[in-house]
Amino acid sequence: MAGFRYRPEILDGMPESDIMYLKEYEDWFVLESDELKKITDHFVKELEKGLTKEGGNIPMNVTWVMGFPSGHETGRVLTLDMGGTNLRVCDVCLSTRKRDFEQTQRKFKLPDEVKTGTGEQLWDFIAGRLETFLHEHHDGGQTGTTLPLSFTFSFPVDQKSIRSGVLQRWTKNFNVSGVEGQDIIPQLEAAFKRKNLPVRIVALINDTTGTLIASHYLDPQVKVGSIFSTGCNAAYMEECELIPKLADIGLPKNAKVIINTEYGAFDNDHKVLPLTPFDRQIDRESARPGTQIYEKMVSGLYIGEMLRLIMLTLHEQGRLFKDQDITRLRNENALEASFLSVAELDFSDGLDDMREEFEESLGLSPNLNELKICRYLIGLVATRAARLYACGIAAICKKKNMRKCHVGVDGSVFNKYSGFKGRAAQGLRDIFDWPPNELELIALNSSEDGSGVGAALAAALVLEGEQKAKPL
Ligand code: BGC
Repeated sequence: MAGFRYRPEILDGMPESDIMYLKEYEDWFVLESDELKKITDHFVKELEKGLTKEGGNIPMNVTWVMGFPSGHETGRVLTLDMGGTNLRVCDVCLSTRKRDFEQTQRKFKLPDEVKTGTGEQLWDFIAGRLETFLHEHHDGGQTGTTLPLSFTFSFPVDQKSIRSGVLQRWTKNFNVSGVEGQDIIPQLEAAFKRKNLPVRIVALINDTTGTLIASHYLDPQVKVGSIFSTGCNAAYMEECELIPKLADIGLPKNAKVIINTEYGAFDNDHKVLPLTPFDRQIDRESARPGTQIYEKMVSGLYIGEMLRLIMLTLHEQGRLFKDQDITRLRNENALEASFLSVAELDFSDGLDDMREEFEESLGLSPNLNELKICRYLIGLVATRAARLYACGIAAICKKKNMRKCHVGVDGSVFNKYSGFKGRAAQGLRDIFDWPPNELELIALNSSEDGSGVGAALAAALVLEGEQKAKPL
């Protein structure tokens, strides 16, 4: 099709003059290899900058997890994982056999009021769910012993130790008052105390740190842990001597520590990311404008919204859903990432599943041509997200000179959006110029539900350390 850089097959048969306006969307959303390489190179510099005392856009938070588990860790740990959408409570039992564990878990949806209420409401909600879990699985925790607990908190915190963490800022449109700038551990402990829960917090970790630990435990070739879900981020192990901001602490020469990059904040100063008018609108209308610019272009929380804004614009230009009632399309965040994923899985001639989704989620009945146009737009938005995601992973590997490794990735979008992984892998291939016949040197491997065991292992490392430190 003349004018388009890529011949969008889905648009075959439609008169060119009717769809030439889509060319602008191609120009906005298609990222060629050269652009990915440029973004990655700038990303590497920003990762470096985050490790300096002056800092930069990317926080590069020191986690105080200073080694990987050996695989011989044992013990029983409760874990709480507060993500962007759910709270997961887990009881993990690390067995005496190498790399073996059992876990019982329960998931609770985080209600919207809890995401935007007060700190006390949030912590009481978490303590309440833990109490329910203890009643179901631990005789209410009345066994007389205090249980060690590891807390996975999927937000950026500044940590002076593994048992503390000051929330730098809320992300993922959370807006809970009284928590930013505060150490979250005493706040959560106070909520446990209000309910008399027999638990002791031994570790506070990020979800990417948990994923890295859990996937490295099962596959030592894993060097990066990443989440691609409501939010997007990655963690890796760094040599302390390469972290200038730790220079004055007097750590042993060969010490290492896991860095939670918090790279969703990449390019907050708008140096390289090719922002479209829709990206700017999403940022403007978010709970924290000016923050998490990369995450807002990439992660699951925003890709549905991106599609909604594009469709709304095209409707207003008289190009889509003529004479239809678009009331629901006007609702902010009306579409989740799963809408895009379902649409892309529809290979029927009439795009019937896709039509059903439009009816269910938006009360719209598009004609076939409109469905095809939306399908094309979904491809653009999702491919851009996957290719930009590849830049962050590539940047960590480039920074660490890792030509070959595995990356453990958890998160609903990565695990459930079929096609996402392939597109991200192609992005890595384009950045590193691997020939088509060469295997993927940096392989993105799904690490599902690693959070519980990762957090339990982090706690086991702390408990082991405490044990060693005890006088004989
Ligand atoms: C948070 C990170 C987290 C990521 C994935 C981001 O919004 O800032 O701490 O790892 O989401 O959950």
